[in-house]
Amino acid sequence: MSIELPRLPYAHDALEPFISATTLQTHHGKHHRAYVDKVNALVAGTPLADATLEAIVAQAAQRKASEPAMVPLFNNAAQAWNHGFYWLSMRPPGASAPQGALEARVRADFGGVPALRDALKAAATGQFGSGWAWLVLDGGVLKVTSTSNADTPLTGKQVPLLVIDVWEHAYYLDHHERRAAYVTGVVDQLLDWEFAGRNFERAMAP
Ligand SMILES: [Fe+2]
Repeated sequence: MSIELPRLPYAHDALEPFISATTLQTHHGKHHRAYVDKVNALVAGTPLADATLEAIVAQAAQRKASEPAMVPLFNNAAQAWNHGFYWLSMRPPGASAPQGALEARVRADFGGVPALRDALKAAATGQFGSGWAWLVLDGGVLKVTSTSNADTPLTGKQVPLLVIDVWEHAYYLDHHERRAAYVTGVVDQLLDWEFAGRNFERAMAP
């Protein structure tokens, strides 16, 4: 068994004009695929060959400090996982907003949805260099965080609810160096708050 490139949950042009079909074709079909292919090449013939992607990320994260070979495996596996989560974090443009229990938690922890959107934009534009901006649940409290390169909350205690890719390959074809233009489109138009709500409810379930 090897890990697979997940299908995009929408058509390549479904996120236009905020993210172009060209960007999605390259980002999903080339960048994400390259991470998946590299993971499969690195685990072939090892005890991790049949592991799930989540297990590979966890193992590599745990062992990379003492085993140099685990560093590229972690980087590629975490990137593969982060990208799968990123595709699910977006939906075609339209008014989507936190509902129900998630919306109540957003009011309690951020004061309201506009402040949460501002915090996500600040984290995504403020992340220095390549990385990811996240909405996470941390001990029952919502937090906005960012991680560098391939790093992912999956390896810690925080539960990811949504993510925004801020690697240049996510926006350069559409917006050149203007990361903020891409981030504004994603946060205001593309984030899938139903996906975040399902992740929130699963994390809060006893
Ligand atoms: Fe990416």
